[in-house]
Amino acid sequence: MKHIIKCGDTLELIKSVKKDSIDLLVTSPPYWAKRVYNGEGEIGTEDTPELYVSRLADFFDELKPYLKQSANVFINIGDTFFGSGAGAWNKYVDSDGNITHYQKERKEKYFTTKPLQPKIKQNGKLYQNKQLLLIPARFAIEMQERGWILRDDIIWQKPNRIPASVKDRFNNTYEHVFHFVSSKKYFFDLDSVKIMGNNGKKKNPGDVWAINTQPLQGDHTATFPEKLVEQIVSCGSPEDGIVFDPFLGTGTTWIVCDRLKRNCVGFEINQDFFDFAQRRYSESGGRISE
Ligand SMILES: C[S@@+](CC[C@H](N)C(=O)[O-])C[C@H]1O[C@@H](n2cnc3c(N)ncnc32)[C@H](O)[C@@H]1O
Repeated sequence: MKHIIKCGDTLELIKSVKKDSIDLLVTSPPYWAKRVYNGEGEIGTEDTPELYVSRLADFFDELKPYLKQSANVFINIGDTFFGSGAGAWNKYVDSDGNITHYQKERKEKYFTTKPLQPKIKQNGKLYQNKQLLLIPARFAIEMQERGWILRDDIIWQKPNRIPASVKDRFNNTYEHVFHFVSSKKYFFDLDSVKIMGNNGKKKNPGDVWAINTQPLQGDHTATFPEKLVEQIVSCGSPEDGIVFDPFLGTGTTWIVCDRLKRNCVGFEINQDFFDFAQRRYSESGGRISE
């Protein structure tokens, strides 16, 4: 397969990709105020959920010219609650916006369980402590407003989710995977993902997918499982097609593409994660190409 895997900012690197060439975009962007990957200014560090949603939609709009008319877009995105830990972001960056205590707090940098929400004044409406912000829904609506067609809101249910210590609500055990297209006619190979029904006939697997999270060794904690990507790559792209992950992280999409005989274009801005992805790919049996 011909994979193009590069380290850098996707919105710069995409310019070297041919327009109208991508069959499937599958990705998991940084969520709002959840983790620090690279420092201030990166996607996910916006001052409000609304700014995050519009910036993320801008990002996918910029990638649109590189997708075929028949392309599929699958975006995995998580939600968050308003409030706790407000202002914590400041302690991670110095006045120049650089992450502080890099070595000492390396673990905290990536593995933090402390919320990183910027300080937003409560307003008695959306901005109230404990409020579930519905960021995935807001993002999906914003994409619709911009002309994307939403075909599915797939629920990725995580059977192995560790119980949280919360006492006044249920433990969150799922995330959304939105399926967008830009044209009413698009590639979709449902047969490739059908499952066996009770009557011995193959059937549509439905839109709730129970898939365990797949922890990896290393610094990156926000990987999506290979099984989730396998399902999407199988139905959302033809064999020998081009699959694009603009937030490659630890290379999950790359590994799955190689296994399923798709060409992968993957960009990752963080050198540590990029190096980790290279190692992971070669350990998976893949050959390092470009
Ligand atoms: C949620 S993680 C993706 C994890 C990935 N799905 C995996 O399985 O490992 C998001 C990634 O996007 C990267 N990133 C953020 N902004 C970027 C940009 N402008 N260009 C390329 N990568 C970016 C981050 O460094 C981070 O590794």
